[in-house]
Formats: sequence, structure tokens, C-alpha cells
Amino acid sequence: MKKALKTFSDPQKLQKWCAARREAGARIALVPTMGYLHEGHLSLIAAARKKGADEIVVSVFVNPVQFGPNEDYEKYPRDEKADLAKCRAAGATAVFFPTPANMYLDGYSTYITEETLAAGLCGARRPGHFRGVCTVVAKLFNIVHPHLAVFGQKDFQQAAVIKRMVRDLNFDVQIVVSPIVREPSGLARSSRNTYLSDDERTRAVALSQALRLAKADVAAEGSVPWRACRAKIVKMLEKAGLTVDYVEAVDSETLAPVKTLAKGVAVLLAVWCGKTRLIDNIEL
Ligand code: PAJ
Repeated sequence: MKKALKTFSDPQKLQKWCAARREAGARIALVPTMGYLHEGHLSLIAAARKKGADEIVVSVFVNPVQFGPNEDYEKYPRDEKADLAKCRAAGATAVFFPTPANMYLDGYSTYITEETLAAGLCGARRPGHFRGVCTVVAKLFNIVHPHLAVFGQKDFQQAAVIKRMVRDLNFDVQIVVSPIVREPSGLARSSRNTYLSDDERTRAVALSQALRLAKADVAAEGSVPWRACRAKIVKMLEKAGLTVDYVEAVDSETLAPVKTLAKGVAVLLAVWCGKTRLIDNIEL
């Protein structure tokens, strides 16, 4: 039988409830999100269930601290009612909707920075972004004290940074990384896809096509010089009318750039599709 879905907005109340559930022997999973939930988010809830969680806490919080001054914090899509219904249907047992004011009290002045994995890729283009992500995720870990927390491979660098933070700061939580959920066209699901016009949505299919190209090259040849493959990818993206922010091949653990595509390498890209920034990746 499905449990009733609890909702919280006060961090202290959620913390108390989670502590009591943990004390009673429940295995607690946390799924951090910024809401406007889609199949990608719901797959994380399903992954938490598969891992045997008794309580699945979904946080829905558009975290102001991880947005740059010229980014889309204000216009980021929000729909609490729909999110609640989706969480219920997916089998979450608690949803946490904090407000910026109760997450970041007056005079808030404590932040967490991971200094290596967060330096390149999106970190280089979005200064302060991963500082904001690490800070809010660390706060959520302290509030919920989950046994496990589920993140999506869609944000490959984010998952790597969080795993490093957990290791470095001795957080007592298992990190589960769940595969990318895509639309039938191949476009990775994202709350930001809602910004795309029909035409942009069609053009955005080039992201996943370009990544499949890299995968096919490696499947055919075993190892492939990155320079040549990168040029093909860039050409394909530009032909679709996308503006490349970065296209990089990195070691999937260290995120250090590589010169040859082979197993254990991840290809990561970020492009502008009109005014919308999209990211995607593939692990070879
Ligand atoms: P958000 O973009 O809402 O994503 C929440 C979680 O869902 C992340 O772990 C992300 O990787 C995962 N996700 C998003 N789209 C996915 C897809 N198509 N397939 C699989 N998983 C997907 O990432 C954040 O929010 C924030 O940075 C957060 C971690 C919540 C901190 O504020």
C-alpha cells in the first residue's frame, strides 16, 4: 500500500521527522531537484525505490545561490502543484518545498567549494555555480541525513563534484547516479526544455546525435583521436544552428581532458540553442 505523502517547508520540521524515521529503522533516500519535474526526475525516485528506500524525500527548491547574476533564476519554471502530484504518483513519501528565506537565513555566510572537478567545463562558464550546488546539497544532507541520495547522469560534472564532496567531507551517505532519460527524439529531458520553441526543439536533437557519433566512432575503431572527432561534432552542432559553449572529452572519474576517445572517457557538451543553454553527455 502507498503511504500518504508528507509535505514540509520548514527545514527543522523535516529534520525532526527524518531523524525519527531513521531512529525507527527506516532507510531514507533523498532526491534533490529544482522542481518542474519530468521523467528524468521521476526516474531518480524509481531508482531510490529500487534501492529499497522506505522513505523517499524529494526536495523541490530553485536554489538562488547556484545561479549567476545574468542567469535564469527569475524565469526558471515552477509548478508546485504539478510537482506534488508527480511525486505522489512516483512513490515519493515526503516532499520538501523550502523557501530561499528559510534555507538562507539573514546574514547567511557559509559556503562549500570543491576546487578541482568543479573548475572546468560548466564550472568555468558558470562561476560560483558548483559552490551553490555543493552548499545546498550539503545543507540538504544535514537536514535529511539520508542513507542514500540519487543524482542524474544528465549533470555528469555535478554528480562527480558531489561524490568528491561526500568523500572529502566524510558525509555519511551513499551516492547513486542514475542514467539519462531522453525524449523519443533523443533530446535529454530537462526542465529548461520548456524554453525551447518547436524549431529549437528540432535543432536540439543534434546534441544527442553528435554524442552518438562519438560512441559509434569508438565502437567501430576502439580508440579515436579526440581532435578529429571533436571537429565532426562541432560541425554537426553548428550545422543545426547551435552555438557551441564547450565540447570536451574527459576521464570520467577525474574529469581531466584526454586526447584519445576510448572506454572510460566521457564526452560532455554545452550549447546555446537560441537563448537556452543545453547540456548533454555520453560515457563511452
Ligand atoms: P535539477 O536540474 O532539477 O535536477 C535534479 C536532478 O535530476 C539532478 O540530479 C539531475 O541530474 C537529474 N536529472 C535532470 N534531468 C535528467 C534526465 N533527463 N535524466 C536523468 N536525470 C536527470 O540538478 C539540480 O536540479 C540542482 O543542481 C540540485 C542538485 C537540485 C541542487 O540545487
